[in-house]
Amino acid sequence: MSIAEAQSEQQMSSQGSVAEDQHSYSNSHEVTIRHLHLELDVDFQREVLYGHVILSLDRKVASRKLILDTMDLDITKIEVANGESDYVATTFSLGAHHPIIGSPLAIDLGDRVNRVRIVYSTTLGATALQWLSPQQTAGKQHPFMFTQSQPINARSWIPLQDSPQVRFTYSARIRTPPGLLAIMGAANNPSELAGGEYEFEMFQPIPSYLIALAVGDLVFRPLGLRTGVYAEPSVVDKAAVEFSDTEQMIKATEALYGEYRWDRYDLLVLPPSFPLGGMENPRLTFLTPTILAGDKSLVSLIAHELAHSWSGNLVTNATWSDFWLNEGFTTYVERRVVEELYGRAREEMEATLGRAVLQEEMATLDGNAQTLHMDLKDRDPDEGATRVPYEKGALFLRQLEEVFGRTVFDQFLRAYFERFAFKSMTTEGFVAYLKAELLDSDTHRAKLIPLEEWLYEPGLPASAPNPHSDAFLRVEEQADNWLRGVLSAEELNGGGWTTQEWLHFMKYLPKDLDQARMRQLDRAFDLTDARNSEIAHQWLLIAIRRSYELAYPRLTSYLQSIGREKLIKPLYEELIKSDEGCRRALAIYQVARPTYHPIIIAKIDKLLSAAT
Ligand code: BES
Ligand code: ZN
Repeated sequence: MSIAEAQSEQQMSSQGSVAEDQHSYSNSHEVTIRHLHLELDVDFQREVLYGHVILSLDRKVASRKLILDTMDLDITKIEVANGESDYVATTFSLGAHHPIIGSPLAIDLGDRVNRVRIVYSTTLGATALQWLSPQQTAGKQHPFMFTQSQPINARSWIPLQDSPQVRFTYSARIRTPPGLLAIMGAANNPSELAGGEYEFEMFQPIPSYLIALAVGDLVFRPLGLRTGVYAEPSVVDKAAVEFSDTEQMIKATEALYGEYRWDRYDLLVLPPSFPLGGMENPRLTFLTPTILAGDKSLVSLIAHELAHSWSGNLVTNATWSDFWLNEGFTTYVERRVVEELYGRAREEMEATLGRAVLQEEMATLDGNAQTLHMDLKDRDPDEGATRVPYEKGALFLRQLEEVFGRTVFDQFLRAYFERFAFKSMTTEGFVAYLKAELLDSDTHRAKLIPLEEWLYEPGLPASAPNPHSDAFLRVEEQADNWLRGVLSAEELNGGGWTTQEWLHFMKYLPKDLDQARMRQLDRAFDLTDARNSEIAHQWLLIAIRRSYELAYPRLTSYLQSIGREKLIKPLYEELIKSDEGCRRALAIYQVARPTYHPIIIAKIDKLLSAAT
């Protein structure tokens, strides 16, 4: 069944409501969640969350049904109430299960009902949840759990209107086993180990994909007056040093785009199986520990997640087809913040690497997947999360900046965030605003922007900005001299290179680099044992490609200790290109699989079963 068929089946039974968001069943134009109150117990034994949610409703038209999104939830009881009256049971029906968007939950509302209480439990395999055994944590003593709601996984742990167009405030009471700390992307009492019962309040209205919870053996270190970091005890000090520029990043972003609107900004370092680099949960960015490089060289990821506090969390993509409005803007803002803190040369390196990975990935995508506005009909929104919305989106904004000048463009963006704060935005809506506020005021400059091409056509416009790094040219020169035998590996300036220069160096090396040369590099710079997760990743890719056996033990331990998709999936993809690699991938994966996130398991299962 297609998504449209699944939705229209639902629409007929709900008085013909039209869902504009392809990935939600909810009838939010008839009735909208205004506030959500969550009461959940965290059960590590059964690996479920159970309890109830109370939804406060804003009813716009006289529809008698509320339709929510759910995915594999176990619904026990639903009650309704109005004003201060008591709850009474109501009838409901759970529609057929769709593999991508789940099941609609249609709840019968009485005339004046404005509150719904749903008693429920999550089920095993909930896509938003990862349950970690003590063995998977740094401390090895306590279990850990966390949620990942973006893009459409919130419905697997809370029945709600799971569309980025619906915003609500929320409150929560979470019960955990004693000794564990629960935190949410909401106002809470940091550092306070409250004996297993925690309360949260989110005062700013947010879309469902930003609801987040984590529970584990966590401690807190302040970084500044409004910033701090949560992590396991053995990780927190290292994290506090690595992320000590956070307050300065907030100040830099505020100077560019206006006040930070979420009060506090804290960071949470998750165990290494966290599937992402970062997730911009409001007030509390979730982070992979793989960016703890010891030299702040990977902290542009903090700048990225922080930037979402403007692009994404404040002005939100209306549908997942408009994802570039979240990620392209954020990547652009991230680079501006990196430039403010670490200088233009660092920014140029990161932008250059960004364009290179974009072009690499675009070469593997069909034309439809190369446009900024994305057609996701009958597709999982996760499939739209390529480098295209990020890097092509950022190049588009960079071109606007270059053509109209920084002063004008900064002013434009700042006004955009202000004008649409706490609202959602479509690609068409942005185009209208862009024309009215920028393009129409200077038709001469506007002619230099191939708008249609950027948004609706594959590839990059010929006039797309081409970031350039002098430092990278010097790296290339060194590489050439080494390859030509003018320099020995020891004479390379590698000891003085930044992480970005190392990444560029390794990408620049010829695809058929021989093993003797690899050994020279390894001896000079110990690349097989590189502690920097990105450098190790790039080296392991080459090692697989060139059957460099000395790196195989590290490859195994790398894949079995990290669950971040960006770092592991390309390694499996490279492995399965050969028979021998396929066997190796399967052997490694057999051990690694139980430690990966359900979403990553689904992806690697698919990859490996297609290959064998
Ligand atoms: N919002 C994304 C994470 C995300 C994307 C979750 C799509 C679910 C679906 C987050 O801000 C992000 O972009 N993370 C990147 C890091 C960034 C520096 C490119 C990541 O995790 O790699
Ligand atoms: Zn992002």
